[in-house]
Amino acid sequence: MNTKKISDMTIILATGNAGKLAEVREILPDYDFVTLKDIGFSGDIDENGTTYEENALIKVRAVWDYEEKHDRIIMADDSGLEIDYLNGEPGIHSARYMGYDTPYSVKNQAIIDALKGVPDELRGARYVCAIALKFPDGSEQTVRGIYEGKVAYEAKGTNGFGYDPMFWVPAFGKTDGELPIEIKNKFSHRAKALEAADKLIKAWRGE
Ligand code: IMP
Repeated sequence: MNTKKISDMTIILATGNAGKLAEVREILPDYDFVTLKDIGFSGDIDENGTTYEENALIKVRAVWDYEEKHDRIIMADDSGLEIDYLNGEPGIHSARYMGYDTPYSVKNQAIIDALKGVPDELRGARYVCAIALKFPDGSEQTVRGIYEGKVAYEAKGTNGFGYDPMFWVPAFGKTDGELPIEIKNKFSHRAKALEAADKLIKAWRGE
């Protein structure tokens, strides 16, 4: 347990992805999240790890090195979509898959086309999210959340972001693009990882 409690609930979230930030704020409304932009960090972070956890740690360490004072918790996530039929691809390469700047409408259709004629039982996919935390005392922790689904037969809906229109959630019979964001945020990989991160933060604060 940490004896030196921090007084505020501000967390630096090492992301520039607006879709992720919105989800994180909705899932953990009790914290005040500031972003890389808010702290004036504009450098490139080379996410060259071989696992989601390594990449998340690379991000929190880059922010730690940038900050002069270490008075706030730093949080980063690294996530990806693993498609069984594509041997786990795009996985940790999900953001850069087919090129960073390629629209997701194109990426999603390419994946649906790649699985044309593939039966239901072979269409398994999952989102994975690892979260790294770096506390003001320099200690680090990681947690992981997993959200199981399938590659849809067609892309549907405009909710969420990224691969959501083609990520079919069997329990609801809908894609994440169609599901209300409140539902996704209850069951998603990010929700599960953030709930685990919340417990670690509370433990660190001695709550
Ligand atoms: P990261 O920013 O390096 O973690 O890259 C994660 C990438 O995985 C995103 O840019 C998306 O392509 C994909 N991804 C992760 N989580 C989600 C999600 O909840 N919905 C849609 N795409 C996601």
